[in-house]
Amino acid sequence: MELTVHDLENDEKKLDEVMAIVSDDLSEPYSIFTYRYFVRNWPQLCLRAANPETVAAVLCKADGPSGYIAMLVVRSGFRRFGIGTQLISASIDRMRTLGCAEVFLEAEVTNKMALSLYDKLGFLRDVCFFNYYLNGADAYKLSLRF
Ligand SMILES: CC(C)(COP(=O)(O)OP(=O)(O)OC[C@H]1O[C@@H](n2cnc3c(N)ncnc32)[C@H](O)[C@@H]1OP(=O)(O)O)[C@@H](O)C(=O)NCCC(=O)NCCS
Repeated sequence: MELTVHDLENDEKKLDEVMAIVSDDLSEPYSIFTYRYFVRNWPQLCLRAANPETVAAVLCKADGPSGYIAMLVVRSGFRRFGIGTQLISASIDRMRTLGCAEVFLEAEVTNKMALSLYDKLGFLRDVCFFNYYLNGADAYKLSLRF
């Protein structure tokens, strides 16, 4: 599949595209302010894959030695082609460059596709947070130390 990976950049049209695919597939509702928070503060850690319209995105941040993956989504129809893995691997490489020694995230305990992706990349399940999401779902905290 012909896809290119770009920095998301502080481009409101691109942010709207990312918001649309995230709101289709993630249960948590995020406002535009959340997207701007990530893109304006950590532009190098916010990526999108496009063909040429946006089909996948990852938004992350870095705080000292800790990286954090806030959102990852690949549009249905573009899944199982390695795009999610590619975006996470690129984000981790960039976190390393910024001096991070670990990365973590939360994922719903029933999200087999995401848990399988992160298992393959070597992430460990540290703790389970009950009733973590607004929809009442439980979450695993996952982490990877570099
Ligand atoms: C999770 C998600 C980002 C994966 O993206 P993707 O581009 O399909 O992932 P990849 O192609 O890189 O898959 C890597 C591995 O993840 C696992 N995986 C992905 N989709 C899966 C599925 N539907 N069922 C089981 N395992 C799956 C597989 O182990 C896969 O490796 P394989 O294809 O060699 O078997 C995508 O399914 C998605 O956007 N889901 C909805 C949003 C979401 O859950 N985001 C994560 C929140 S924490």
